[in-house]
Amino acid sequence: MSGTKTARVVVVGGGQAGFSVASTLRGAGYEGPVTVFADERHLPYERPPLSKKAHTDSLRVELVPESFYKERDIELRLGEDVVAIDTAAYAVVTGTGTRVSYDHLVLATGARNRPLPVPGTELTGVHALRSLDDALAIGRALTTARDVVVVGGGFIGLELAQVARAHGARVTVVELADRLLSRAVSPQLQERLRERHERGGVRILTGTAVQSIEGTDHVRQVVTDRGALPADLVVYGIGAAPRDELARDAGLAVEDGVIVDEQLRSITDPRISAVGDCARHPHPHADGLVRLESVQNATDQGALVGRRIAGSPSPYESLPWFWSDQGDIKLQIAGLRANTDDVRLALGDSPERLAAYAFRDDRLVAVETLNWPAEHLAARRVLERSQPVCAADLAGSTLGALVRARRAAEVRA
Ligand code: APR
Repeated sequence: MSGTKTARVVVVGGGQAGFSVASTLRGAGYEGPVTVFADERHLPYERPPLSKKAHTDSLRVELVPESFYKERDIELRLGEDVVAIDTAAYAVVTGTGTRVSYDHLVLATGARNRPLPVPGTELTGVHALRSLDDALAIGRALTTARDVVVVGGGFIGLELAQVARAHGARVTVVELADRLLSRAVSPQLQERLRERHERGGVRILTGTAVQSIEGTDHVRQVVTDRGALPADLVVYGIGAAPRDELARDAGLAVEDGVIVDEQLRSITDPRISAVGDCARHPHPHADGLVRLESVQNATDQGALVGRRIAGSPSPYESLPWFWSDQGDIKLQIAGLRANTDDVRLALGDSPERLAAYAFRDDRLVAVETLNWPAEHLAARRVLERSQPVCAADLAGSTLGALVRARRAAEVRA
């Protein structure tokens, strides 16, 4: 491999993870050539606002201006996709047949939306949301939409449901599972979230399957197993799948994500790393390998790989955290809830504030909060430092109060 002054880093993907790799490399003083391939034509941008502010025309989401890349000599190849990796020759092949060699290759290809498997998704007025262009199209449609049907009661669906309500549309969420947000939050919180959305005027149909979307050119109705719903705009968000086919085609180990080690190197080829939504990795807070879809994970993993290539390796141990703004409902999650055996709800000092503490073997491992940022931050502090908290510690107390009491005790000791 070439020295650090000449070794070429190629990053595939211009999202938050790919950006984090490139900017960290330069921040850490890396002097070799850095190339980022991004298949979209926009400068790298943030995705979270797309589902929260899809109604604004002036959506400003660029991570940094174009000058940032020029000043740091980061070659940004917008609108160019990588279609193959030649691992034997250490080169990627682009859609136009150009070959670019690498010393380190970082896959930051993200995830794509799961398609909605019913007839009618090609009609005008039916949208999925992933890209900035999708968000702008939904924003335009919302200016005239009266009856909005949202398919999928996950993060994207519930955020967009509130955006549509803010536009004054009638909104129905159709969710296949028996509960909202079944992937992301505990059943205890799911119920509370449902109440809040319903109070805000969103109609929610759980345990309901969409059978078809109908209309002539433009969508007119959504047919479900519980009847037809009028619709002039349909938005679906029914989950995402990793974009890992480049890795699979190149013979790397892939299983719902590119399988990497604790330093985020492919377990098949250590010259190739994977970061963000497309990576499946070990994590001290997870039981086995995990794939996380979040800005925190994309940013921290990109930074970790950037630092490693620049000469400072470390294992990936960042505490996972997530957030979702659904109208005036602010959901925040710290830690990983999988395999927890006990969840306790606590009310904050105002009726809008709520926390769910999730325990595994009587040890706090995840905290979900509604409209309670201070408690979320306390949770991050405790979980990041692996400070043990058991259910009895939280009986009649909040995590914030517990942290303050423990700190005071330390000062006294
Ligand atoms: N019909 C209706 N609902 C469905 C169907 C279906 N055919 N299939 C799945 N669902 C539901 C799931 O039960 C789940 O509640 O869609 C929801 C999908 O929720 P998420 O998994 O949270 O996915 P989504 O909201 O699409 O978000 C995708 O964007 O913001 C990020 O972190 C988020 O990475 C995630 C991604």
